[in-house]
Amino acid sequence: CGIVGYIGHREAYPVIIKGLRRLEYRGYDSAGVVLFDGNDLKLSKTKGKVADLEEKSQKEISVSGNIGIGHTRWATHGVPNDVNSHPHYSNSGNLAIVHNGIIENYEPLKKELIARGYVFHSDTDTEVLVNLIEDVKKKDNLKLGKAVQIALNQVVGAYAIAVFDKERPNEIVAARLGSPLAIGIGKDEFFIASDASPFIEYTSNAIYLEDEEMAIIRLHKPMKIRKIKDDSLVDPYVQELQMNLEQIEKGGYDHFMLKEIYEQPAVIKDTYRGRLHANEGLIKMAGIEDNLQKFLNANRILIVACGTSWHAGLVAEYIFEEFARIPVEVEYASEFRYRNPIIHENDVVIAISQSGETADTLAAIKLAKEHGAFVFGVCNVVGSSISRETHAGAYTHAGPEIGVASTKAFTTQITVLTLIALRLAQAKGTLTNSDFHRYLQELELIPEKVQQALETNDVAKDIAAIYKDAPNCLYLGRGYNFPVALEGALKLKEISYIHAEGYPAAEMKHGPIALIDEQMPVVVIAQKQEHYDKIVSNIQEIKSRSGKIIAVVTEGDTQVRALADHVIEIPKTVDALSPLLTTIPLQLLSYHIAVMRECNVDQPRNLAKSVTVE
Ligand code: G6P
Repeated sequence: CGIVGYIGHREAYPVIIKGLRRLEYRGYDSAGVVLFDGNDLKLSKTKGKVADLEEKSQKEISVSGNIGIGHTRWATHGVPNDVNSHPHYSNSGNLAIVHNGIIENYEPLKKELIARGYVFHSDTDTEVLVNLIEDVKKKDNLKLGKAVQIALNQVVGAYAIAVFDKERPNEIVAARLGSPLAIGIGKDEFFIASDASPFIEYTSNAIYLEDEEMAIIRLHKPMKIRKIKDDSLVDPYVQELQMNLEQIEKGGYDHFMLKEIYEQPAVIKDTYRGRLHANEGLIKMAGIEDNLQKFLNANRILIVACGTSWHAGLVAEYIFEEFARIPVEVEYASEFRYRNPIIHENDVVIAISQSGETADTLAAIKLAKEHGAFVFGVCNVVGSSISRETHAGAYTHAGPEIGVASTKAFTTQITVLTLIALRLAQAKGTLTNSDFHRYLQELELIPEKVQQALETNDVAKDIAAIYKDAPNCLYLGRGYNFPVALEGALKLKEISYIHAEGYPAAEMKHGPIALIDEQMPVVVIAQKQEHYDKIVSNIQEIKSRSGKIIAVVTEGDTQVRALADHVIEIPKTVDALSPLLTTIPLQLLSYHIAVMRECNVDQPRNLAKSVTVE
């Protein structure tokens, strides 16, 4: 989501609307604005884009006032509709809030507030937060800043917020934990935004709030920044911005794809946040708990998806079968829907889709439903067609993916599917207790290890420079990493237009080996795990035919290093989770090759982000 706030001498409305437009890349399913005209608050919000908000608000409210906050939403709790859009009011109508992020413990907080007489109009966690602030404020007759601070100390989760109190009309309180927030400082005016793009034309002086910091922004007074936990004052560090607009929207990265690759540690964490409780040995996912019997009674699980999501499905096949001992079949949605498939009432169908709009996947779901199967969705876009069409589901929390070549959607899909497989394994007793706990702990460590895997960027770039002109490329992997080989090849094809094929390493000898000569780069995922010796033999087979070997190895590996032309080292984890790491250098490799070939990385030719045609 994106936040924009303004307090100063200008008309707030045009600043906010223009700023929201610039933040639309962060989410665009609904938008809203609240203004204070000196007497009253005026709120307008709508499902849809900022353009829809502009049209609606100009009809609905008088858009004057020098203070305001606005929001463009990427839904996480509650479908995108007018009511769930931000800003949200508190019950008294005095407080207005905009919020990014997820309040994990919103349910118990909401129950408590309802018991105290609070009424809720939306399904959002945000409305819980604004009423919690109001409750705290009223109880001890506190100022807004203090109330926000106390309330935030009761909240578990991630947030960036801006709050306004009608009774203190010269002040906006902003706070952050996990979601970014920048404050632009002009002469007698302040801007608040998720990144600097909304205010870059007004000022180049900005403060970036750090996690667990809040700012009390008042007109004609010095700004105060405090630590949320202990109330201590922080010396504001004012930075001079030297970026252009486009760079800022891409967070300083050259392309959305690269930005999204680098977001993976954070979004994998967002995806398991509130669901994975490693210390307690618990996985909490409402969509699974509510339908646990259906999964446990399932004869088999059918996974339907397209493109990268289909590859995530293949990884899930290995994980589900290994952990939960349920037979799994993975189908291209387009094939499934047209071949009169055999579907039983006690089949569980899992549909995976980033956009939630892919026509073939949607049609496959409808077909499965007609046959009486239970259909579970794994989508990224909240309220999308697939998330509505399925009986239940679990969202990935990857945030908007703009680059057409999917990266962070893939790793967050695998994260969700792993959580499901682990929960089913626990219920079925198909993993030993100690293995189950080890997997939970390893999963919790994945974001940190993905971060380390991202450090292979320079190596990937050097390798890219050597092979950027290759006409073909082969990707090999075994077991859990066979689908990663397919995904690696797809990434290269999509954005660099180099022909690439992914193969199970052992299948090479049944065909692709005929292609190998000194011109042929072969990317081999050669992790120190089960079947390591077999993959070493495969590498030897390539070497003896003079193929060029680029190996993705586990830290400290010596055997493959001795054989390969290039190695990319990544941290060790348990076999089943290794796709989350091995996929990272492959994303980086294709990214750099595409850049060096001067391809349009974010919008490759002929492809679309969301394919709503058959
Ligand atoms: C398109 C995109 C791919 C994506 C596929 C499935 O082809 O270019 O990146 O993997 O659709 O999309 P979905 O939104 O269903 O995951």
